[in-house]
Amino acid sequence: MRSHEQRVYFFFFFLSSVPFVLSLNSTQKEIMEKLSRSGSVWGDARERNPCAWKGVSCNSDNSSITNLSLSGRSLSDSSFLPLVCEILSLEALDLSDNSFSSVPERFITACGKIDGLKQLNFSKNRLVGSLPAFNGFVGLQSLDFSSNMLSGTIVSQLGSLNDLKRLYLTSNNLSGDVPINLGNPKVLEHLMLSKNSFTGSIPDGLLEYRKLVRIDLSENQLSGHLPGKIGDLSELEELILSSNNLSGEIPMNLSNIQNLSRFAANQNKFTGNIPVGISRSLKNLDLSYNKLGGPIPTDLLTQSNLQTVDLSYNLLEGSIAAKISPNMVRLRLGSNSLDGTIPSELGTLPKLTYLELENNSLSGSIPSELGSCWSLALLNLGMNNLTGSLPLELASLSSLQVLKLQSNKLVGEIPDEISQMQNLSTLNISGNSLSGSIPSSISRWQSLTNLNLQGNRLSGSIPATIDSLTNLLELQLGSNQLNGDIPRMPVSLQIALNLSHNLFRGTIPETLSRLQGLEVLDLSNNKFSGEIPISLTQIGSLTQLLLANNQLSGVIPKFGSYVTINATGNPGLVNTTSQSNSPQRSPGKRKSVAVAVVVAASVAAAFLGIGVAVVIVVSIPRRFYRVANSFHRSNINFTKAMEAIASAHQTLLKTRFSTNYKVVMLFGRSYFIKK
Ligand SMILES: *[C@@H]1O[C@H](CO)[C@@H](O)[C@H](O)[C@H]1NC(C)=O
Ligand SMILES: *[C@@H]1O[C@H](CO)[C@@H](O)[C@H](O)[C@H]1NC(C)=O
Ligand SMILES: *[C@@H]1O[C@H](CO)[C@@H](O)[C@H](O)[C@H]1NC(C)=O
Ligand SMILES: *[C@@H]1O[C@H](CO)[C@@H](O)[C@H](O)[C@H]1NC(C)=O
Ligand SMILES: *[C@@H]1O[C@H](CO)[C@@H](O)[C@H](O)[C@H]1NC(C)=O
Ligand SMILES: *[C@@H]1O[C@H](CO)[C@@H](O)[C@H](O)[C@H]1NC(C)=O
Ligand SMILES: *[C@@H]1O[C@H](CO)[C@@H](O)[C@H](O)[C@H]1NC(C)=O
Ligand SMILES: *[C@@H]1O[C@H](CO)[C@@H](O)[C@H](O)[C@H]1NC(C)=O
Ligand SMILES: *[C@@H]1O[C@H](CO)[C@@H](O)[C@H](O)[C@H]1NC(C)=O
Ligand SMILES: *[C@@H]1O[C@H](CO)[C@@H](O)[C@H](O)[C@H]1NC(C)=O
Ligand SMILES: *[C@@H]1O[C@H](CO)[C@@H](O)[C@H](O)[C@H]1NC(C)=O
Ligand SMILES: *[C@@H]1O[C@H](CO)[C@@H](O)[C@H](O)[C@H]1NC(C)=O
Repeated sequence: MRSHEQRVYFFFFFLSSVPFVLSLNSTQKEIMEKLSRSGSVWGDARERNPCAWKGVSCNSDNSSITNLSLSGRSLSDSSFLPLVCEILSLEALDLSDNSFSSVPERFITACGKIDGLKQLNFSKNRLVGSLPAFNGFVGLQSLDFSSNMLSGTIVSQLGSLNDLKRLYLTSNNLSGDVPINLGNPKVLEHLMLSKNSFTGSIPDGLLEYRKLVRIDLSENQLSGHLPGKIGDLSELEELILSSNNLSGEIPMNLSNIQNLSRFAANQNKFTGNIPVGISRSLKNLDLSYNKLGGPIPTDLLTQSNLQTVDLSYNLLEGSIAAKISPNMVRLRLGSNSLDGTIPSELGTLPKLTYLELENNSLSGSIPSELGSCWSLALLNLGMNNLTGSLPLELASLSSLQVLKLQSNKLVGEIPDEISQMQNLSTLNISGNSLSGSIPSSISRWQSLTNLNLQGNRLSGSIPATIDSLTNLLELQLGSNQLNGDIPRMPVSLQIALNLSHNLFRGTIPETLSRLQGLEVLDLSNNKFSGEIPISLTQIGSLTQLLLANNQLSGVIPKFGSYVTINATGNPGLVNTTSQSNSPQRSPGKRKSVAVAVVVAASVAAAFLGIGVAVVIVVSIPRRFYRVANSFHRSNINFTKAMEAIASAHQTLLKTRFSTNYKVVMLFGRSYFIKK
């Protein structure tokens, strides 16, 4: 026993030669002496008063210890823990963020006898096996065992905790039914069980806990209905059910709950109409990725507390009501079957930052009033039936970073003025009927990374000022009526330069060989003539060279075997490699380099109300790590990452600790995003 304890003394001070001279209860003094005998990793060795040690708090006259924290000290041997329980005045014990793999039985027995112990925190350790049975612990109010590797079911382990207010078991591998034996039903306030393997339905027994304020059951495998009796939890403020297999209707009785401020039931299988009244007190509503139908209830968006609403990827019909909460920050209604026009009243919302209405059947023109939404950072109206021209007023959206209007029926010219949107990083207006030429003022888009004007009726030449877009990674100009000389292109281009299906003629400019990071060069279906410049073989990152259907002549220069070339439809071109039989490496053998880019999605995280760090892993066939590094440097916008996170169909692999998302880019490039 003695040697057993000595092994753990190193957590504390060496103090045995200096008797305590303070008023600390002598029993506790001895315990602290024992704990500190053989080491000094904890605090300042000259300090005699244990109440002054880091992680120790005492009562007001320093006669007894109330709080002990050993958080974040890389401890793995838990055998000393029973000794800590001899400090009978302990109120809070924080053992989080260590490497403990087990909780000694004697710890449970001993600490269970401390009637005043209110808080026990074992989160962020490596605990395995089942949750210990808590006998005693009559005063325990807060129990945190989140972020461990606990498994098995919860049957009666917590049943005698009659004072338990807050239970945190997030991020374990607990299974079986959602526990309903959680001490006194009149007391429990917080029940956090997300990211486990709980199955079955939401038990009626849970709804007896009438004091519940926060419930998080997300990322489990729950099925069945959400009981209407949920409306009896009158104190509920937060109900998170995301990423389960729940079905049936959203119960109308949710609207009985006066102070419900956050309700998330996204990524389930809810059906039926959204009931009237549920947003009455809500700030945040997420019902995305379900099978909800019918119209959006007329009162839903009007409630003035609302800040974020996500109803995307459902089967909603009808039109969008004109009156919307003045506090709305994020409104996502994409991928439904909404029709009617875009309400011009959206322009009166001063806080609106994300507006996503894409992939519906919205018609009419883009309201010029949207130009007054001065907070707007993301506007996605793509894949609708919008007509008319690009309103000049959009030019005043100085915070706008992403503008997507692709696949509509927009006409007219691209107004010079829209180049005033100085923070724009992505512009996609492809698949419309825009005409006229590309304004030379585009050079003002100094943050632009992705420009897609493909599939319009643009004519004239590419402005020479394009060279000054020094952050451009992707330029899609295919399927227009562009002609003239090809100017110097920004050397930042990486993802693609696509000039296909236009009216370009003359020789392929040598200056393209400057684009050392470029992967895809598409010049097909033009009237290029002359020889293919040998200098193109020096584009180090090139993987695809598309030259089909031009009037090229001469000999195809020898490219690396990793470059796929399509040069069909050039009658004057001679393929020498057809004789030489040089081995073509299969794409599967290409080396792949993964680069991690960490985007601190602080803005987005603020709107989600949670801390989110987004890790983007770009997995691209690369021959040179150098190239990958330049991607690392490049300006990947968090909005792209956040869009992907919100898209369940992009979920590749859901593991216990993370969900991987895949954003498929043009030409098969994929960004893997880890949340
Ligand atoms: C110290 O406090 C404990 C109870 O917390 C008590 O049982 C013990 O007698 C006290 N010791 C002394 C020396 O006062
Ligand atoms: C208790 O100990 C702390 C830490 O040494 C000290 O700052 C405080 O003054 C002491 N309080 C009393 C009442 O002695
Ligand atoms: C000690 O624990 C109590 C709860 O038991 C808590 O209210 C208090 O803030 C904690 N004090 C310190 C200094 O951590
Ligand atoms: C437990 O400790 C972790 C890590 O130190 C902390 O984040 C968490 O808030 C604590 N839990 C409670 C209930 O205080
Ligand atoms: C979680 O528990 C299940 C059994 O309930 C087991 O099959 C699975 O491997 C565990 N997962 C992890 C990550 O430990
Ligand atoms: C829904 O709430 C009403 C009162 O507003 C109540 O009469 C009814 O029983 C509740 N339904 C359920 C299923 O709890
Ligand atoms: C709702 O919140 C208000 C303000 O915090 C509070 O006074 C009221 O008691 C709460 N209502 C319920 C039913 O909990
Ligand atoms: C989800 O529920 C459906 C029935 O609604 C069932 O067929 C399916 O197996 C469930 N999936 C999981 C993962 O529990
Ligand atoms: C468009 O919405 C439909 C459902 O309405 C969905 O199946 C489809 O995946 C969406 N398309 C895109 C590109 O998001
Ligand atoms: C777009 O509008 C036209 C009529 O202007 C209509 O025929 C067509 O069905 C609409 N398409 C969609 C996807 O709503
Ligand atoms: C080459 O390009 C032409 C025209 O774009 C296309 O029709 C053809 O399928 C392509 N060939 C290959 C092998 O990809
Ligand atoms: C040249 O001929 C070889 C062998 O027939 C063929 O594999 C290759 O694709 C051809 N290259 C081009 C650019 O057409």
